[in-house]
This record gives sequence, C-alpha cells and structure tokens, in this order.
Amino acid sequence: MAVKSHIKDIKLAKQGKDRIEWAERSMPVLRSIRERFTKEKPLRGINMACCLHVTTETANLMRTLKVGGANAALCASNPLSTQDDTAAALVKEYGISVFAIHGEDNKTYYKHIHQALDFKPQITMDDGADLVSTLHKERRELLGTILAGTEETTTGVIRLKAMAADNALEFAVVAVNDSKTKHMFDNRYGTGQSTLDGIIRATNMLIAGANVVIAGYGWCGRGLAIRAKGMGAHVIITEVDSVKALEAVMDGFQVMPMAKAAPKGDLFITVTGDLNVVRLEHVKKMKEGAIVCNSGHFNAEIELPKIYKAASKRKTVRPQTEEITIDGKKVYILAEGRLINLAAAEGHPAMVMDMSFANQALASEFVMKNHKTFENRVYVLPEKVDLDLALIKLKSMGVSIDRLTPEQKKYLASWEMGT
Ligand code: ADE
Repeated sequence: MAVKSHIKDIKLAKQGKDRIEWAERSMPVLRSIRERFTKEKPLRGINMACCLHVTTETANLMRTLKVGGANAALCASNPLSTQDDTAAALVKEYGISVFAIHGEDNKTYYKHIHQALDFKPQITMDDGADLVSTLHKERRELLGTILAGTEETTTGVIRLKAMAADNALEFAVVAVNDSKTKHMFDNRYGTGQSTLDGIIRATNMLIAGANVVIAGYGWCGRGLAIRAKGMGAHVIITEVDSVKALEAVMDGFQVMPMAKAAPKGDLFITVTGDLNVVRLEHVKKMKEGAIVCNSGHFNAEIELPKIYKAASKRKTVRPQTEEITIDGKKVYILAEGRLINLAAAEGHPAMVMDMSFANQALASEFVMKNHKTFENRVYVLPEKVDLDLALIKLKSMGVSIDRLTPEQKKYLASWEMGT
C-alpha cells in the first residue's frame, strides 16, 4: 500500500530514527516479539488503524506490526503528544503512513483519525477510544469488516464498557490496559516518573518540601504518590473511592477532600479519569503561585473553561506554563490541562512501554486467532500472556526466579491438607 502522511516536516526523519533506535534498546520484550513476527507474519495482509501517542516507543510498536504483515496507519491519540521527528521517521525510514502533527487543533485531530480510518481497518488499536467512538458515530460503513480492536488505557476501557453496557459496541475490544503487565507497570511506574518529569521540564520547580496534592489513587495516583514522596514532597491524596482512600491512608499519605487540600497545595496533579476534579471554587482557595496540571488521559479533569473565563489576565511565562490571574492572585496551569507527561516531556520511558506495547502486539495476534468466537464486548488477555511477558522481562534484566516443586504444585491443588 502507498505510504500516505500528514506530518510536520519530513526533514526531521534522521533525528527521529536515531531516537527510535535509542528507545528500542530499552524494549527487549517487544524486540523478541518483533523477531518472531518477522518469521511468522501473524498479521499478514491485515489493515490496521492505530490511534496512539506518536512517540519513539509507539514507533517500535508500529515497526513490529509492519513486520508482522499488517498495513498499519497511525494517527495521534492526543493533539499535544506527537513527536514530529518520530512521525517523520516512521514515514520516511519505515514506510508507515502517519497522520499527526504536534499541536494540531481539534479539527485536524479528528481529520487525522478519519484519514487513519480511510485505511479500512480490520483491527483498530486505540488509546482513549476516540478512534472507536468516531468509527461508531461517523464511519459506520466500516463496521462490517472489523474483526476486533485493542485498547491501551483506563479511560478508553471505561468508555468501551459503557458502550457495551448500552449495547452500542459493534465489535469486540481487547482491554490491554487490564493486563497486569500493563497497568501495574505503565500506569504506576510510567506515570509516576513521566508526570514529574513533565512538571519539572515545564516549571523547573523543586519537588522536595512541596505540598503535592494528587487527585486519584488508582494505579497512576499510587505511582505518582510514591515518586513524589521519594523526592521529598508532602503528599496529600484526594479520592472518592473509600477503599482507595483507606489504602492511601495506610500507605502513609494525608487524605482529604479537594476543598480542604486547595489552600494547602503548592502543586496539584489530577489522575482520576473524571470530569472537573479541580474546579474554579478550588482555584479561588489556592495559594498565590500554586501550580495545577493533569496527567489523566483527557483534558477534562481541570474545569478550564470556567477558570479561563474568571481570569482577568492570561500569560504564557514558559513553554507549557500559563499564568492565570484570578481575584488578583496568580496560579499556573500547565499544558492547557492536557496530559503533562506527554505534552511537556516524552511520556513513559521505553523500559515501561516495552511491556505495554508487547501486550498490544500480542493482543493483535490474539484477535487474529480468536475473533471468530468473540461477542461484542470487552475482553482481557489470558493470564499466561502476563506470566510469559513478565518472565521475558525478568530475563532481560538478568533476574531469575524459583519454580514450584512438584510437591508444592500438588499442595496448592489440594484441599485436604490442613494443620
Ligand atoms: N503513553 C504514555 N507514555 C507513552 C509513550 N512513551 N509512548 C506511547 N504512549 C504512551
């Protein structure tokens, strides 16, 4: 198939290729899958539309799908997360169609999704479910040829489950996010590090000694809290789920409602996946100089339209750092409330994305093997995939583990033996 593209600048390809190869060094699990896919071609002749953050790590996934035999087109899953040099390298060096430009407006973002859908996908690969949602709302003529989809992130899985509950989902989707080797690593260690990386790149602030308010104690919030604590922050958690709130207390963090945390925080980070978690009423209570950002998938967690409306002045003081004056007080909003780790930094490190994208590659193979038995609902990969991937990762790190003895296996399978 002819390579098509709408990207920023093809001349960035050389720099992109160098960075893609650098990322690949830290992706041994995906590399081993790529080697197998090269021989076995499990995706031979399959059209794929992929809506993912266009990063060096994603580029290595796209290379894997291509050598596996797929005709895969890529568009961005967020207007601010595209690395333009990576997009250029994918087109020029690897012959993959890409529709993504860093900083594209909403109209272009959706135009690019449509351009990826023009490839008439048999498998969709999504991060946040914008591709699947557009397909169901505006491109229903394509539904008939879809075998199934895969979904990368918590927010996307929540949307897909809502579609399935509404009987609106017209094909099966594999929730890659729900693999342990995805959410326990990517969401926890990836978000933990890359969010602080983005905040530091945007502001150069010192984390030590700061009061850091983290909204949400899911896998992302847990990872973020432990890293912020490790850097010397005083961490406050806000939650709506009583079990998670209790866990945060037991992990040694202060827990309180946002209204109480608002006057205390120096830095606010939302990772809830929900709407309007930091609202104008909270911003009005914040200290002069407070910094507010989001690391959840959508830019909906901070009530920005109302906050912007109430501002007497708005000024960009550094790249990705906007000063907002409200009631004579200055607060700072990072990356227009978009996910800070990808907007101001490079997203999760390759070492983490190795696991997430190994799961994505295996999910597409799982679709090929099982789509005939699928119903229109959300599936998870078998536990064996998790165990196998974790074992390959451990091996790449030079770590070996024990195996059950026959006696232990028998013991675990029996119910008679007691005291
Ligand atoms: N999501 C979070 N970090 C990412 C990365 N580096 N590449 C692709 N998707 C991501």
